[in-house]
Amino acid sequence: MKIAAYEVRPDEKPVIEARCKELGIELISTGSILDSSTVEMSKGCDGVTTLGQSDFSKSILDTMVENGVKVQAFRCVGYDYIDVPYARELGLRITHGSYAPNGVAEYTVMAILMSIRKAKKALYNTNDNDFTLKGKMSRELRSLTVGVIGAGKIGYTVIKILSGFGCRILAYDMYQNDAVKEYATYVDLDTLYKESDVITLHTNLSESTENMIDGEALSKMKNGVVLVNNARGGLMDIDAIIDGVESEKIGALFMDAFPGEEGIIHIPHDEDIIRTPGMPYFKLKYLRSFVNVIHTPHMAFFTEEASRSMALSGIDGIYEVLTKGSSAHEIPQ
Ligand code: COI
Repeated sequence: MKIAAYEVRPDEKPVIEARCKELGIELISTGSILDSSTVEMSKGCDGVTTLGQSDFSKSILDTMVENGVKVQAFRCVGYDYIDVPYARELGLRITHGSYAPNGVAEYTVMAILMSIRKAKKALYNTNDNDFTLKGKMSRELRSLTVGVIGAGKIGYTVIKILSGFGCRILAYDMYQNDAVKEYATYVDLDTLYKESDVITLHTNLSESTENMIDGEALSKMKNGVVLVNNARGGLMDIDAIIDGVESEKIGALFMDAFPGEEGIIHIPHDEDIIRTPGMPYFKLKYLRSFVNVIHTPHMAFFTEEASRSMALSGIDGIYEVLTKGSSAHEIPQ
C-alpha cells in the first residue's frame, strides 16, 4: 500500500512516518497542499491524506482517481472541503479525522472568558501603561445564558465544562441527546438567539448552515451579544458581522475561523500588501481593529494530544478501508 500525505506539519511528520512503518505502508509526504501543481505526487498511491487546505476541485479529484487513489482521508474532523457526491460518483471513498473534543472545547471556554472579561482591552491597555479599569467592567458567567449551536461531541464538551460555571445553558441541534439534557435545555434557534448573552458555534458547515449568522439572525439576538466562532468561518456572513460590530449589536466577537481561509491560514502572510477590499483578509484587518474583536489563526484544535490523533487518523482511515473494507470514520457512501 502506498500513501501520499499532504499538508504535513513538522509535529505530525514523525507520527505519520512511524505509523506507516508499523503498518508496512510506503509513504511520500510533503508540507504542501494538494493542488494542480502537486497532485502528480499521488500517482500510484492507494490513498491520499490531507488537512483542510487542499484544493478538491473536480479536476483534482478526477486526476487523483486516474492516478489510482481509492481513499481520501482527512486528518481534520470537518470534510466540508470536498464535493462528497462528486467523489462518490468517482468511487473515491472518504474518511474524516478523529480527535478528542477537549482541545477545541477548552479553547472555546477560554474564548468566552476572554471575551466577557475584556481580555484584549486589558492586555492592550496594560502594554501601553494604561493601568485603569476604564471599559473593563465585566459580567460573571453564573449570571449569563450561554447558547451552544451544535451540540455534537465538541458542543457537548463545551456544555459540560461550562456547567461548572453555573450559567444557564441553551442548546440547539437537529438531533437531541440525553447526555446534553443533563446540563442544557434544548430550544429552537430563535429562542436561543433571543435569550443568550453568549452564543458559541459548533455546527458543521453545509449548504443549510452557510452564512447562518447573517443580518436576520443577528437582529434576533440580544444587544451586546458575545459571539464565538471556533468552528467554520463560512457559518458567518462577514459583512453582517462587520455591521454587527459597528452598530454594537455584537458586544464581543471571538473568531478562530474566517470565511475563505482555506489556503491562507497556517501560512505566513505578514509581508503581504493588503491592496483591495476583495482580498479575503482585508475585512479581517478592519474587524481586528476593534478592541472587542479577537481573531486567532484556526488553532483551537492545536494540542499535542489532538495533533497525534489527527496524524494517526489520516493513515488509519486509508488502511482500514483498504484492508478491512470499512472504517468507523468513513463518510457514508
Ligand atoms: C478540523 O479538524 O475540522 C479543524 O477545524 C482543524 C483543521 C482545519 C486543522
